[in-house]
Amino acid sequence: MPREILVTSALPYANGRIHLGHIVEHVQSDIWVRAMRMAGHTVHYVCADDAHGTSIMLRAEKEGITPEALIDGVWKEHTADLRDFGVAYDHYSSTHTEANRELTYRIWRALEANGHVESKPVKQLFDPERQMFLPDRFIKGECPVCHSKDQYGDACEVCGSTYNPIDLIDPYSVVSGAKPVEKESLHFFVKLADFEVLLKTWLQERRAAGGLQAEVVNKLQEWFAGGLRSWDVSRDAPYFGFEIPGQPGKYFYVWVDAPVGYLAAFRELCERGSKPDLKPADFERFIRAGSDTDMVHFIGKDIIYFHTLFWPAMLHGAGLGMPTAVNVHGFLTVDGAKMSKSRGTFVNARTYLDHLDADWLRYYLATMLGPTLADIDLDLKAFEERVNSHLVGKWVNIASRCAGFVHKFFDGKLADTLPETARARYDAAAARLEACAALYEARDYAAAVRLIIEVADEANAYVADHAPWVMAKDESRRDELHIVLTLALNYFRLLTIWLSPAVPATATRAFEFLDDRPARFDAARAPLLGHAIKPFAPLATRIDPNRITAMIEASKESLQVKSNPSPPNSPLEGEGSKARAAASPSPESRVPSPETISIDDFARLDLRIGKVLACEAVDGSDKLLRFELDAGELGRRQILSGIRAAYADPSKLVGRHVVFIANLAPRKMRFGVSEGMILSAGTGGNELFLLDVDAGARAGMPVK
Ligand code: 2FM
Ligand code: ZN
Repeated sequence: MPREILVTSALPYANGRIHLGHIVEHVQSDIWVRAMRMAGHTVHYVCADDAHGTSIMLRAEKEGITPEALIDGVWKEHTADLRDFGVAYDHYSSTHTEANRELTYRIWRALEANGHVESKPVKQLFDPERQMFLPDRFIKGECPVCHSKDQYGDACEVCGSTYNPIDLIDPYSVVSGAKPVEKESLHFFVKLADFEVLLKTWLQERRAAGGLQAEVVNKLQEWFAGGLRSWDVSRDAPYFGFEIPGQPGKYFYVWVDAPVGYLAAFRELCERGSKPDLKPADFERFIRAGSDTDMVHFIGKDIIYFHTLFWPAMLHGAGLGMPTAVNVHGFLTVDGAKMSKSRGTFVNARTYLDHLDADWLRYYLATMLGPTLADIDLDLKAFEERVNSHLVGKWVNIASRCAGFVHKFFDGKLADTLPETARARYDAAAARLEACAALYEARDYAAAVRLIIEVADEANAYVADHAPWVMAKDESRRDELHIVLTLALNYFRLLTIWLSPAVPATATRAFEFLDDRPARFDAARAPLLGHAIKPFAPLATRIDPNRITAMIEASKESLQVKSNPSPPNSPLEGEGSKARAAASPSPESRVPSPETISIDDFARLDLRIGKVLACEAVDGSDKLLRFELDAGELGRRQILSGIRAAYADPSKLVGRHVVFIANLAPRKMRFGVSEGMILSAGTGGNELFLLDVDAGARAGMPVK
């Protein structure tokens, strides 16, 4: 039965950049949305920036701009990053909108009217200088347990103890450095215990329907066992957020209006009329209690509590429908370890896109994503190998090997029919891949992709067995050749249809080549016959490992260029507008074409091939590598080259050939004499690529 589904991803905070950890989730939900649409469901897909809270307020202040200006800038960056990763939200909003304020107020008033709100005084640490209450993460001091200095107000990173900020020894405010004082203020609470029975029923029912994972249910049961305490939903001014109606100086805690932001974004989508299947009235139809539409959230495992206790309680307390599913994923690790800024494995989305293709990562993530909360490891070697072997070697290759013959011998047209055995082969493969629809729906993308690659192997074996390149030489076998090409390209189309949710941009190019626009999985049931295809253009290239290295190097560097850093590990740390400003080169920075020179000018250069005998980083320089080259008849040369940022492991360069200028006057540098210059392509920094020479060239050979 076709369903109507509202799908969301967790709203990224508007004070930091999108990084690959976020991308896991947005790609996971995007693949699901595309697959569910191709299965025939109606899906509305929204997200927004989570724009409120103390961190955003303080960051804006530090940058000397208004919070509104800050969140506007971040919104532009976030939407561009997600778009360029192929994540196609129907609408990407912000929680700082009138629609969200209205809905937050509506839910709040209903909670109040239904008696679920209470208020009581709370004692908290207060920064007397900055005149503000301090969230736990904005207080530091000595751990009361192990006495390590500079630990946060809620937990010690050294011994792992958790405590109350009031227990810290010698506490100080991260905002002003002042010693905080205890101060009392009135706070508002949602009485979560009112919803205990309801939440338990919701939990059982959702578990049975597959809307909650077993691990999530276990977590919830632990929390129930500990008892549900009232939830403190207010914060005192100064705060960037929505003021609580009727309570001047009191604001909603960011986690109140954040999930409401899901609905507000959807409401804006309903009202703006950009989707023909969505009208303003649909909003109320979707959100009311007992609606037969679905609401599906994708989140990370760190925010389960908010989405499975607070959020359903708020919705129910306000008389609205609760989520159909909360799909939780694990964290991203890189090469088996937590993402690390110093190792360069904390990679921003834009840094990735500057070096690598979005579909490559989407594909790799698809091979790793399953329905559990297990962490997802980005193993950089496996990433390279899998993309090269699966996407290029097994999928795209089918088309690249066959397309030329179709144009050469058959006017670009596929055969009108397939003989029985060929058709039976196609039907069997198509039937086998139909299992992917359920696997996508169950978020077992890894299993879906495994199956697709098995069929790709079968297709490649078929092509290899029938060797169209051999048949093509024999004019008497034209009909046979036509059938083989037609079946092979239909295999390719079949694989493309089922891979398309994972690699949408590459699939779009593949469909352009096939001149076909299948919108549903069931288009795969009938092969393309008697159909003209377009000329083949390369659909995907192999990953050059140097690009991965360059991306990691760039991720290290973006920390070094950060000016005016926040106190180490403070909540303000992260990538702010400074890093953002350095994002993309402006058009003005483009270099005009150079003047022409004569061939004699060129001939003055003595360019030679050198073989790298040794290569190491120069102590005391963060830019230079020291090369020792075998320059053939010219002997040995020492060259100091400023390409260290582009080559993390210089020892890997030993043994390869490079091109260098042999007649450049030797230059005495602080680190020794440089006897020439090695050529590389690129703009500098980590964007430098040594020139290569084909096999057979020897050290000392001139380059002309
Ligand atoms: O954890 C986070 O990044 C939050 N900004 C997620 C909010 S999700 C939702 F509830 F709005
Ligand atoms: Zn400690």
